[in-house]
Amino acid sequence: MKLFNVYPLFDITPVKAKGCYVWDSEENCYLDLYGGHAVISIGHSHPHYVQRLHEQLNQLAFYSNSVRNPLQEELAEKLGELSGYPDYHLFLCNSGAEAIENALKLASFYNGRSKVVCFERGFHGRTSGAVAITDNARIQAPINFTQHVVRLPWEEEEQLRQHLQSGEICAVVLEGIQGIGGVYEASPAYWQLLRQLCDETDTVLIADEIQSGYGRTGQFFAHQHAGVQPDLITLAKGMGNGFPIGGVMIGPRFEASYGLLGTTFGGNHLACTAGIAVLEVLERENLMHYATETGNYLMDKLRNTNGVREVRGKGLMIGVEMEFPIKELRAHLLSEHYMLTGSSSQPHTLRLLPPLCLTHVQADDFISAFGKAVAHFREKTVD
Ligand SMILES: Cc1ncc(COP(=O)(O)O)c(C=O)c1O
Repeated sequence: MKLFNVYPLFDITPVKAKGCYVWDSEENCYLDLYGGHAVISIGHSHPHYVQRLHEQLNQLAFYSNSVRNPLQEELAEKLGELSGYPDYHLFLCNSGAEAIENALKLASFYNGRSKVVCFERGFHGRTSGAVAITDNARIQAPINFTQHVVRLPWEEEEQLRQHLQSGEICAVVLEGIQGIGGVYEASPAYWQLLRQLCDETDTVLIADEIQSGYGRTGQFFAHQHAGVQPDLITLAKGMGNGFPIGGVMIGPRFEASYGLLGTTFGGNHLACTAGIAVLEVLERENLMHYATETGNYLMDKLRNTNGVREVRGKGLMIGVEMEFPIKELRAHLLSEHYMLTGSSSQPHTLRLLPPLCLTHVQADDFISAFGKAVAHFREKTVD
């Protein structure tokens, strides 16, 4: 049997990784500025993470959600404490899209409504509800088309007010910082408006922190820069540093009942162990602070690089908009400079999502390679 061929691949085969470095099968060493789509939070193969998972694997890898699993409580407790949401509840699942599906369901169960407000350029996953609220017609099959979705321009106010005041909207969903869309943040004023309108109309505010959460922007969640509290917060990616785990953090006003949500694999012993190890390392190594510090350092240097039109983002979630399309630049950075970077839905915007342990020396190495690569391409490709 052959693989179902849905991924365009770079021609490298990683076999080993440590911290911010990845080695391929030919022993080339790459600096990882992308963390495999923002998944690597505490660094590849962190010794504490490896040890914790190794020990757990020797004890118990899995049992179902019909028995007690103290690791789930330990994870919830630690996450509540570190994120500043001790009074929220945690539902565990396996991926980002699943977290979104469960958040949408919870919101709809809560107020009995079915329409969702989402935003242009937003990405929320590829399953039915998640892809319906994602702004990409190419990944929506006819079965995903629904009347339930209202998509608004980013930071739009007038239509937002009208829709929410109609009393038909179940939830408003937005990313803490838009990731795949090209790294765009909503202003604190807009977050506050959303919070106010949702309160007035009993609409559920859902922050999708799947990419922007887990310390990446220097706060535990990106929306915390705006000083608001969403009702539901979706998690995945950095939560397990590579081990598949997702979750929904659920505000105190939502009531649980048996069978309301459920999953076979979600919250299994290995996944929880990975999740706990990530939080322990984030805290012990002060990685949120480093994300701010190294992120500011990197963004300053990027702003002073020729060919850069705009640098967006916070901490180590960075969008670099270039004067020319970045497709070939990215491939060149990989093949000639051994640097892994990310793209976005904006052809001119490169996305940087390195592990949070990136050092200044590594940031300098990137800047030096980036400067050379840009110089190589600039003359060729300026619009
Ligand atoms: C903001 C956001 N939400 C949801 C998802 C979907 O997550 P997953 O691929 O784990 O289903 C992603 C994935 O890139 C994402 O960036």
